[in-house]
Amino acid sequence: MRAVRCSLLLPYLLRLLLIARQNFLEGYCQMSSFFERYGPWALITGASSGIGAEFARQLAARGLNVLLAARRKERLAALAEELKARRTVNARAVEVDLSQPDFLPTLLAAAAGLEIGLLVNNAGFGTSGEFLANPLERELAMLEVNCRAPLILAHELGRAMADRRRGGIIFVASIMAHLSAPYWAGYAATKAHNLLVAEGLWYEMKRRGVDVLALCPGATDTEFKDVAGIRARYPQMPVAPVVAAALRALGRKPSVVAGFQNRVVYLLLKLLPRRLATSVWGAVAQKWVNSVSSNPLPPLPVRWEKGREEDSQTSSQPPETPNTPGSRS
Ligand SMILES: NC(=O)c1ccc[n+]([C@@H]2O[C@H](COP(=O)([O-])OP(=O)(O)OC[C@H]3O[C@@H](n4cnc5c(N)ncnc54)[C@H](OP(=O)(O)O)[C@@H]3O)[C@@H](O)[C@H]2O)c1
Repeated sequence: MRAVRCSLLLPYLLRLLLIARQNFLEGYCQMSSFFERYGPWALITGASSGIGAEFARQLAARGLNVLLAARRKERLAALAEELKARRTVNARAVEVDLSQPDFLPTLLAAAAGLEIGLLVNNAGFGTSGEFLANPLERELAMLEVNCRAPLILAHELGRAMADRRRGGIIFVASIMAHLSAPYWAGYAATKAHNLLVAEGLWYEMKRRGVDVLALCPGATDTEFKDVAGIRARYPQMPVAPVVAAALRALGRKPSVVAGFQNRVVYLLLKLLPRRLATSVWGAVAQKWVNSVSSNPLPPLPVRWEKGREEDSQTSSQPPETPNTPGSRS
């Protein structure tokens, strides 16, 4: 009786084995084709924490060697050691401040002799709160790190990729790139820059064999909020699915919004008239600014409140004490 049962089960077991083998081979082929398209080295900026560190882990899992760049060298070195111990890849760390005008030679020296097939322009930070209350130097540093550095790196490494007729560039933008965001105005504009450059280059560079993608995360659980000086009371995505969404979309789409809920928000934003979307965001954000600031926002002038031309003279003074954003950047 037992022998009969076994002989009945045998075909099913064989079938399961075949499926498992097929899945393994498909996974292996995907991994090797990813390596062929974007290997052997990836340069990841802002790899000392959050989304950048997760990019390093997932790219190493796909067999790419990683060059990790940021200011906190100890963290980069620890991550490089972790990756070398867990994977059969090479990993290097380079300390660089992307807000400095002469950052490029430092990075190029670290990348000398390495064939960078994938650039992940991830490093970035945000200012939040009233524009006039933030130090101008910080807004300018944000432009350097979020916009100038990614553009320079894409130009420098993109040319080498185009010569080889293969490679990839990922710009980490944000869902805020799709919105004019009061109290995040400068930051949202830097992310819109990332998004628009990436989408334009996606079209331009595909004929050169280079895939370009803008990743648009929503709120993600990283150190970003600490640096921006905000307290997060909203749901945040973990980093792993955010990065996985980017690696799935690379070579398939010009941009991707990570996460189902964020895609719903994105669609709503597209449906609302632009002015209304800005006003809704502003109304929500101003409550938040008032709740965290010791210096409440002035009331709106009468002409805004009641649609009249007279302006109340009381509201035109900029705040005296600046917001206190996080210490990094
Ligand atoms: N977390 C979110 O909710 C969210 C949402 C949408 C988009 N994003 C975007 O995702 C990207 C990664 O941010 P994250 O969320 O992972 O935040 P994070 O944990 O604060 O990581 C930011 C990374 O950028 C690096 N960085 C900052 N300033 C730098 C500078 N001057 N020079 C070199 N590296 C610098 C930091 O490294 P060092 O401090 O060691 O230099 C760090 O590795 C950013 O572009 C951000 O705009 C984040």
